[in-house]
Amino acid sequence: MTEPLLNVSGLDAWYGGSHILHSVALNVDEGESIALLGRNGAGKSTLLKALLDAGPRSSGLIEFGGQSLTGMSTENRARAGLMLVPEDRRIYPDITVTENIALGRIAARGRGASVSMEDIWQSFPLLEPLKDRGGGQLSGGQQQLVAVARGVFGCARLLCLDEPVEGLAPVVVDEMARDIARLRKMGLSLLIAEQNLAFVRACTERVFLIDSGVIVFSGNWQDFDADPTLKDRYLAV
Ligand SMILES: Nc1ncnc2c1ncn2[C@@H]1O[C@H](COP(=O)(O)OP(=O)(O)OP(=O)(O)O)[C@@H](O)[C@H]1O
Ligand SMILES: [Mg+2]
Repeated sequence: MTEPLLNVSGLDAWYGGSHILHSVALNVDEGESIALLGRNGAGKSTLLKALLDAGPRSSGLIEFGGQSLTGMSTENRARAGLMLVPEDRRIYPDITVTENIALGRIAARGRGASVSMEDIWQSFPLLEPLKDRGGGQLSGGQQQLVAVARGVFGCARLLCLDEPVEGLAPVVVDEMARDIARLRKMGLSLLIAEQNLAFVRACTERVFLIDSGVIVFSGNWQDFDADPTLKDRYLAV
């Protein structure tokens, strides 16, 4: 039996005295793409940040690539191949698109250069013509593509995306879905927090649904569709 790439169990997380995540269990296999669904404030970002130890205080088991991450710094988790593209895109305005993407490699220092800049332009064809443009001269959608490309350039084994298409125009959402399909062909595993059902449905095989810091459903999309009350109960429509 192969062990999952990411294995989380009994994960609790707190911001100060606020207990946000309650005994969360979640797993991602190598090559899989997983959706993390939940309404505003459900705990999606807290969960992704807890995986990286980048914000909340947490306890519980997080294994990645067969190794426990307990006590490991955020930097070393990134080096091990666990990468988060956060909600705020953090594109630097005064350097170019290429330079912004190249920063991903710094976060993952020590990992081999398995992804070339040429691979990035092939995966994100909309970005190639913009490569010399300053980060400050991009639309919101273009910035989001750069943020995801930077995560990929960090040679992540598991790329965690926090609401990658929130607020983007439908044409950019479609482009992101195509780019993600290309990344998956490169063997990247993904964990995508989203509220845009059509988008994650197109990009993932399995779903974890979180509400008030508790995983209330997990299964494939067929299982998800089999219970239409899930949408009404746990997702803002
Ligand atoms: N830095 C923080 N300090 C204290 N509480 C926080 C902090 N960040 C988030 N919270 C609280 O934790 C809970 C979960 O928030 P989280 O950001 O994880 O939700 P989310 O599912 O990502 O929501 P959204 O879809 O709006 O991004 C919320 O009640 C929120 O108010
Ligand atoms: Mg969030």
